[in-house]
Amino acid sequence: MGKPIIILGIESSCDETAAAVSSNDKILANIIATQKVHESFGGVVPELASRAHQLNIIPVVDQALKQANITKNAIDAVAFTNGPGLMGALLVGSSFAKSFALALNIPLLEINHMQAHVLAHFAVHPGNELSPKPQFPFLCLTVSGGHTQIILVRDHFDMELLGQTQDDAAGEAFDKIAKLLRLPYPGGPFVDKLSANGDPDMFQFPHPNAPGLNFSFSGLKTSVMNFLQKETAKDPDFIDKNLNHLCASVQHTIVSILIRRLEQTVKQTGINRVAIAGGVSANSGLRNALMNHTDWEIFIPPFEYCTDNAAMIAIAGYFKYKNGLFADQQSTPFARY
Ligand code: KG4
Ligand code: ZN
Repeated sequence: MGKPIIILGIESSCDETAAAVSSNDKILANIIATQKVHESFGGVVPELASRAHQLNIIPVVDQALKQANITKNAIDAVAFTNGPGLMGALLVGSSFAKSFALALNIPLLEINHMQAHVLAHFAVHPGNELSPKPQFPFLCLTVSGGHTQIILVRDHFDMELLGQTQDDAAGEAFDKIAKLLRLPYPGGPFVDKLSANGDPDMFQFPHPNAPGLNFSFSGLKTSVMNFLQKETAKDPDFIDKNLNHLCASVQHTIVSILIRRLEQTVKQTGINRVAIAGGVSANSGLRNALMNHTDWEIFIPPFEYCTDNAAMIAIAGYFKYKNGLFADQQSTPFARY
């Protein structure tokens, strides 16, 4: 075995400033600074995100090098997120990565954030070296605050988008409905927790009509809003009295929409290896529904690799490095597909 490839990964596409160090496919450090500044706004404020990235990027990288117990001279290449995401936020990470690579005279690797969520499944977690990795081809449901996609993964960089949301992402639906229920931001984890003591069949909400394998969540938010307006007009304490049932019913609806599309995808493709990624993959309702599918092979990475992180950027960088897919200093980030 030759000398392992050491990659520094940088992620700054949204409201997490993150740095990670990998040695081949093994993660040596995974540091995330979550920006608290957005909480009181009930959503990510792009300009505040850019500033917080500027503030956090150097300390986060420093900490990652310390945790990995290496100096910057041991790094073979720098991988950074070049999109999709918030432009100002992406520019902080990409400018840092370019300067760092230039100063050390090492190659740059530009990483698509969505591909990285998928490739997080191949990251080897220290202490968990034997956990099974998905074999190609497999399906990946990526569900977070910014994205909802079903991807057919044929190889590390051969992926086909089979379906995606036409409006809100699944996490966004959780967060926006949580806001209607007066829960703090981001509301997904609160809805999940409160659902444990609620009846998922207490309230019925309609499923959307998105074509093919696509998703739509904005109609669900509107129907919950109309329902709450009607009920609170009759009883102002309706939300407080029914909070657990409301959370459980909403969660049940979102999970059913996701699972139904996955079932259709498995049927259409004949592939029953199903991986999930993104912050919403932490949802207990979604995990339970997946586990009930004993006919599927399910892959769920450790939670710290599910939400936005730089370990996934480093691991994607490792595969790019091995394939000689390097970027140059002219590379510019992109906000959307
Ligand atoms: O992947 P992530 O950290 O960042 C984005 O790329 O958006 O995902 C964050 C999203 C938020 O919408 C949050 O509410 C949701 O993931 N989330 C959850 C849970 N944990 C995080 N949604 C439902 N149930 C959870 N347990
Ligand atoms: Zn993400």
